Amino acid sequence: MRLNEAVSECVRLKEAIPELEEIDAFVTNVCRGLPMMPGSIFRIAAQYLENWGISITHANRDWVEARGQKSYHDEWKEGTGESNDAIEGAIEKSGLIYGNKDLNSVLADTVVQLLTNMSDTIRGRSRTFAIMDAGAGTGDTTIAILDSMLSSVGTAALASKCHFYILEPSFKRLEEVYKRLEEHPLKPGKTFIASNLEEHLRNTRNETYDMVVSNAVFHHMGFPTHLKLLRESLAKDGVMVVGDWYTSVWQHPAYLVPILRDLGASDITVRRFENFFHIRKGDMEEQERRLTKHQREANTQMFSYVSALADELRGVGSKSQLCFLEAHESLDDRLGKLKAAGFETDMAELKRNYRGFINMKNNPRHLYQKSDIACVVSAAKICR
Ligand SMILES: C[S@@+](CC[C@H](N)C(=O)[O-])C[C@H]1O[C@@H](n2cnc3c(N)ncnc32)[C@H](O)[C@@H]1O
Repeated sequence: MRLNEAVSECVRLKEAIPELEEIDAFVTNVCRGLPMMPGSIFRIAAQYLENWGISITHANRDWVEARGQKSYHDEWKEGTGESNDAIEGAIEKSGLIYGNKDLNSVLADTVVQLLTNMSDTIRGRSRTFAIMDAGAGTGDTTIAILDSMLSSVGTAALASKCHFYILEPSFKRLEEVYKRLEEHPLKPGKTFIASNLEEHLRNTRNETYDMVVSNAVFHHMGFPTHLKLLRESLAKDGVMVVGDWYTSVWQHPAYLVPILRDLGASDITVRRFENFFHIRKGDMEEQERRLTKHQREANTQMFSYVSALADELRGVGSKSQLCFLEAHESLDDRLGKLKAAGFETDMAELKRNYRGFINMKNNPRHLYQKSDIACVVSAAKICR
């Protein structure tokens, strides 16, 4: 979350909305004709926008957030399986041995462990759980949880104690989840919610959910608005289990230079981009020096992934609306945001104060030993 001192010294940060529109239009124009478009620059995690020459102020904050959300919404609303296939293909081709499926599987095992610990009978009454799957896509997260209940000894009965609230903005994807759940041997209660997460939460009573699960969704949210709303929507002992991708490759425009080259941009295009954002030789290396080994490895893996995704999309063309800019952030930034929004993620504190975590070994759970790129983070609501 550091200001790029070089930029701040010599360039005035922009904050007026017409100026911000100009920056957004420039980035779109410079990428025209590439196999993959960036989407709005306001998709990037808000804490990094200063490095892009943008100041978030009281006056422009809502506009910036809405602009980013619209770009994500446009990307996903028409999405069929094509975008998912391209993502899965790119994960494989870039040599990432663990993908969304593995994130869902670690998330699911964590959820079953938590539910088992939390579901002891209280005064003769068996506890039930309202669980929201936020950004359910085609249902992989909820299905992974049900599969994990089936495959672990003695946990299948948990399903009858759970009511799943499957939230997803795309109708097509929701339909798919419906079909898949109809075919699943476990039959928990279920409600389908066709909505954007933030909108839904604004219309939800406080303390509605016992648990929120979400995989590969929060890196589409540039501001932490959803985290504060999620905390309010959770019961007093509510927990959240989030699988996600963590990199800092969009923290500074210098990172885009090798990506533009990889996407086939000409030298002139790359130079226009460098001039516009006042990128100097060594800027990217300077950012990288500030990172931990785990963060640097995550960025290297992300570069390979974007390159492979662009390859996948060369064949798909306009059928996919996938964009490359995302609200990826470092794991440390995410943990900081969770803390600021009123969530506990520290393992020792979780074990001490929340019964769901009594026998849990580690948090966050890293999928890759030497990289932060894919992690499952559990977070419990701090009651003030
Ligand atoms: C990469 S997919 C992950 C789907 C699923 N969780 C999984 O693991 O397979 C991301 C999903 O998040 C949804 N999404 C993106 N922004 C969202 C938002 N603001 N509110 C709710 N869902 C959102 C998209 O529609 C998409 O289906």
